[in-house]
Amino acid sequence: MRTVLTHVVLLICCSSVRSGYLEEDQNVLVPGDWLHVGRVGPSEELELTFALKQQGVAVLEETLRRVSDPDSAQYAKYLSLDEVSSLVRPSELAQKVVRSWLQSHGVTECLSVHTHDFLQCTLTVEVAEALLPGAVFHRYVRDGHFQVRSSSPYSVHDEVHQHLDFVGGLHRLPPRGQDVASRGKNSHGKAGIHLGVTPAILRARYNLTVSDVGSAQNNSQAVAQFLEQFYHPADLAEFMSMFGGSFKHLSMVDRVVGTQGAGRAGVEASLDVEYIMSTGANISTWVFTNPGRHESQEPFLQWMLLLSNMSALPWVHTVSYGDDEDSLSAAYMTRINTEFMKAGIRGISLLFASGDSGAGCRHLTKEENCFRPSFPASSPYVTTVGGTSFKNPFKVTYEVTDYISGGGFSNVFKMPDYQASAVTNYMQALAGGLPPLTYFNTSGRAYPDLAALSDNYWVVSNRMPIPWVSGTSASTPVVGGMLALINDQRLLKGLPPLGFLNPRLYKLQGQALFDVTEGCHLSCLDETVQGKGFCAAPSWDPVTGWGTPNYPALLAALLDK
Ligand SMILES: *[C@@H]1O[C@H](CO)[C@@H](O)[C@H](O)[C@H]1NC(C)=O
Ligand SMILES: *[C@@H]1O[C@H](CO)[C@@H](O)[C@H](O)[C@H]1NC(C)=O
Ligand SMILES: *[C@@H]1O[C@H](CO)[C@@H](O)[C@H](O)[C@H]1NC(C)=O
Ligand SMILES: *[C@@H]1O[C@H](CO)[C@@H](O)[C@H](O)[C@H]1NC(C)=O
Ligand SMILES: *[C@@H]1O[C@H](CO)[C@@H](O)[C@H](O)[C@H]1NC(C)=O
Repeated sequence: MRTVLTHVVLLICCSSVRSGYLEEDQNVLVPGDWLHVGRVGPSEELELTFALKQQGVAVLEETLRRVSDPDSAQYAKYLSLDEVSSLVRPSELAQKVVRSWLQSHGVTECLSVHTHDFLQCTLTVEVAEALLPGAVFHRYVRDGHFQVRSSSPYSVHDEVHQHLDFVGGLHRLPPRGQDVASRGKNSHGKAGIHLGVTPAILRARYNLTVSDVGSAQNNSQAVAQFLEQFYHPADLAEFMSMFGGSFKHLSMVDRVVGTQGAGRAGVEASLDVEYIMSTGANISTWVFTNPGRHESQEPFLQWMLLLSNMSALPWVHTVSYGDDEDSLSAAYMTRINTEFMKAGIRGISLLFASGDSGAGCRHLTKEENCFRPSFPASSPYVTTVGGTSFKNPFKVTYEVTDYISGGGFSNVFKMPDYQASAVTNYMQALAGGLPPLTYFNTSGRAYPDLAALSDNYWVVSNRMPIPWVSGTSASTPVVGGMLALINDQRLLKGLPPLGFLNPRLYKLQGQALFDVTEGCHLSCLDETVQGKGFCAAPSWDPVTGWGTPNYPALLAALLDK
């Protein structure tokens, strides 16, 4: 899956050192909304993350397959962080070579993680540019937030090349969040009259009764946020007093990991917390917030490091972060995918929003377009959540496709076995009704896996109730809270949590879910597809997955083994 690396000879100050790129296919262009501030001074400090090549990745993958397959004798026999560490930790040689390479450049201030497969080091720009030939560090700003990144690709010495997957902190600026608050105002001309999704509406639609709340001692759930946004505890309290209704719920987050910014709350951040705590009611909730503390860190990568360094974690994490697959290096995505396996094998469920651009659109040439899958939504080792709307926006009716619902086929990850027959059935059933095959890759991992309402939510942000909030960043915590409730019932029965859900979800064949069969999502506005991506259909589809949860039925289906 890794691309073949081209080795180049670079001349750096006086001596010639053979070095090669680790992420040749990484897009290093800085998006136009970031303003260039200038070159970073040679003595300024950076924090870079070295991803050391792991051992045992094939065993990890095979073990994950077994612990998440309900028909396997090893189902739900999860590993501890210690066991994961023994499995994947880099070879002694790899650790030694990387460390002595760093030391020979005077880099000694490094932190490791429990699994020994990441090193996070503090070093000056001058040292970093010598260590990583090609790197040139600049400072950029967007909306008052500064980031340091390299404007050109980096390479590493041949001696360490084979021991590293990638170096983090040089590329990948945080993507801009979807403008979650504004969509409703100009959508479908429904202005003025609408239902508005609240916890009570969600609980009615998904058949949650007042007694469907958490009560297990050790259960918890988490939302992770990487935009320059944070939730405000007072907003959460006000939201719960306005919309908390008759079900037992908590109005406070139990633990914040990371740094909560000061100033105004973000709508997206408020949304995540308010809704995971509405379906996953009375369940202890953690927020991982903007863990990139230094200008040169990648917040998403920092979160991955935290997961590898904490032995006690919530069982369910929902994340609304995503980037175009084609903007990221294969080495980076492959390694992050391995990090997802490391979480799954511990019994942790990772849920990602499928994105808000339908099938997406990438302009290949002036005339040629194709769809644009997004990552991590396209990872085979996460559960990806799409979006729906009520058929009749004024009532709790059945659901149809929300046209923004992200979905499609990966160009990087091949289709996992657990979904092969579901996807094949869709392709056969739709046959003539599929978009042209030049627009997507039929051999790739297809997503989303399931969905929930993503349209017209009420959120409290900066003490103000805000209507019309939409996006798969709403549906994801809604599903996450329901999974956490099912985990709760499993824990009460002495069963392990659900862990990586997909193999079991696909075996249900849509049982316990409300199938979404109407509507198409958006894509390229060109003559060939005219804005239309994939369409929903009976059973699984790449717009809404298997459909939306019927909680009591899903609980019943997942409450054994
Ligand atoms: C990981 O945790 C250990 C101890 O719990 C700590 O010493 C170390 O600095 C942490 N690593 C990172 C990268 O923060
Ligand atoms: C759940 O909701 C659906 C649709 O709202 C309804 O038809 C069904 O009877 C409800 N109850 C159960 C237990 O599925
Ligand atoms: C809420 O959760 C706590 C445990 O965290 C439990 O003791 C309590 O009974 C729960 N409340 C309800 C109404 O189930
Ligand atoms: C909760 O977790 C702690 C520490 O992991 C453990 O000692 C305790 O037995 C657990 N309690 C329950 C009810 O599972
Ligand atoms: C299609 O996906 C497969 C893996 O699923 C990959 O090997 C192949 O390169 C992809 N094709 C394109 C055109 O991206």
